Amino acid sequence: MDSLAAVDWAAYESEAAHAVARAANGGELDDVRVRWLGRRSEIAQALRGVRDRENGMLLNGIRTRLEEAVAAREQALADEELDRRLRDEVVDVTLPGTPLPLGHLHPITQTRRLIEDAFLGLGYEIRDDREVETVEYNFDKLAFPPTHPARSPRATLFFDDTRLLRTETSPSQIRILEEKAPPIYMVSIGRVYRRDAIDATHFPIFHQFEGLAVDRKITLADLKGTLLHVMRALFGAERRVRFRTHYFPFTEPSIEPDVSCGICEGAGCRTCKFTGWLEMGGAGTVDPRVFENVGLDPDEWSGFAFGCGVERVAQLRHDFPDIRALWEGDLRVLRQF
Ligand code: DAH
Repeated sequence: MDSLAAVDWAAYESEAAHAVARAANGGELDDVRVRWLGRRSEIAQALRGVRDRENGMLLNGIRTRLEEAVAAREQALADEELDRRLRDEVVDVTLPGTPLPLGHLHPITQTRRLIEDAFLGLGYEIRDDREVETVEYNFDKLAFPPTHPARSPRATLFFDDTRLLRTETSPSQIRILEEKAPPIYMVSIGRVYRRDAIDATHFPIFHQFEGLAVDRKITLADLKGTLLHVMRALFGAERRVRFRTHYFPFTEPSIEPDVSCGICEGAGCRTCKFTGWLEMGGAGTVDPRVFENVGLDPDEWSGFAFGCGVERVAQLRHDFPDIRALWEGDLRVLRQF
């Protein structure tokens, strides 16, 4: 028997066993199995030709041991692979996560909340009224004369003859007076719209806050004390407030409140145009015609009202020069607030 005689079976077994031990993965182990135990391997061919019991037992013994070695190696490789995956794919739930960049409130929202806080501290209720208003509430019931320039479509954005985008938060005065009986202490904050050309101090959308206090025996002194409290909450404890006379259709007398400039402390600077004072909006005691328009007796009830720009407050608090920055959403700017 040629094939039997030609092979040194002890060397065959030890070489095959080494090859099994060196197989580094399943693919290599398969190759080793085919090479040393497959149908065309020397041992398989020899076993097909073997006739005597002694050689049969010898070769079968080698084949069995090699098959066991392959199976053991297969198991060892599988264990190694599992260990590797357990090690590499482990998730350490105690590791800190990848931090996501956190945003913050827009400066207008920050300012709005500051204003709300100042009035909540005085016991005022906060309103958020409709932006689409009627001519009746935006102008008529606020006693705007028929010829008032704000009624022109050149100044105001109309939908049709009766509906418009509110030009001020003052319609909230009428809405609340029609909804409930005095005493009333309310602030309405929100967007208003005007047909203004855009520049550093004008934008066709902006925000106002509108205050209304209606009670018995309310005077201008109450208005001044209230505005002083609010201006100090917004701009600092050293602020002073002064009134200049003015005209508004729905207040009589009407005034414009100024707050002392907090940037130069009244000495005069670019922001206060070297006057030491900053204009804050409009105010006054409620005109008797407004009370009559909502069915209240002007001899029994009295009140004051005021309206100021939220952008203006934000601008003065942070002393930034251009109102357009508040609408552009440029993160390089917004991150600074
Ligand atoms: N609505 C006025 C404006 O937009 C501001 C204003 C003036 C509001 C006097 C008031 C007020 O409540 O009493 O210019």
